[in-house]
Amino acid sequence: MGRLGNLFHLQNTIIWVKSIAIDIITYGHFTPINSHRFVNNTFEYVFHFTKNGNVKINKTAIGVPYMDKHNITRKTDSLDLRCRGNTWFIPYETIQNKSQKGYHPAIYPRQLVENCIKLAGYNSETVVCDPFLGSGTTLVVAEELGITGFGIELDKDYLKYAEERIAAV
Ligand SMILES: C[S@@+](CC[C@H](N)C(=O)[O-])C[C@H]1O[C@@H](n2cnc3c(N)ncnc32)[C@H](O)[C@@H]1O
Repeated sequence: MGRLGNLFHLQNTIIWVKSIAIDIITYGHFTPINSHRFVNNTFEYVFHFTKNGNVKINKTAIGVPYMDKHNITRKTDSLDLRCRGNTWFIPYETIQNKSQKGYHPAIYPRQLVENCIKLAGYNSETVVCDPFLGSGTTLVVAEELGITGFGIELDKDYLKYAEERIAAV
């Protein structure tokens, strides 16, 4: 991790699954690669860095209901929610046409951003920063959650599209 490793601790590693084949059915989209050596890449890493590696997170904010409700009574908080775990299946949102895509090749699904913010925990004083803003999904979600955010983006066209998306929320 180099310099980053001196500043931050890797507290959680999450796998964002974009597409999965269960038995003979495929869910979600991915960009196929043209290779006789490599299989298609259908996931990305999400690294959760914190300053000391010991930051409390809000697991139930993105929790999932128990399949077996008997498990609820074994817990002290008695919520029908358990930890989602570190594998998140979140397909890309369906893009209908090129203008909707805003000519950005990698628009993250809003659910991915929302999970990260909710898991980290937020309140009215939270500020979110996305140093690789792209089409502005992070700030769209921040706006929807009612929290402040800012971002950095190199490409002027992507930035313009991000501003349009944020203004539309
Ligand atoms: C994977 S995309 C981000 C996608 C974004 N999460 C979204 O939902 O649209 C990464 C973005 O980082 C931008 N970028 C790359 N290097 C950068 C840098 N040094 N400073 C600011 N932006 C940068 C690219 O132009 C690109 O739009």
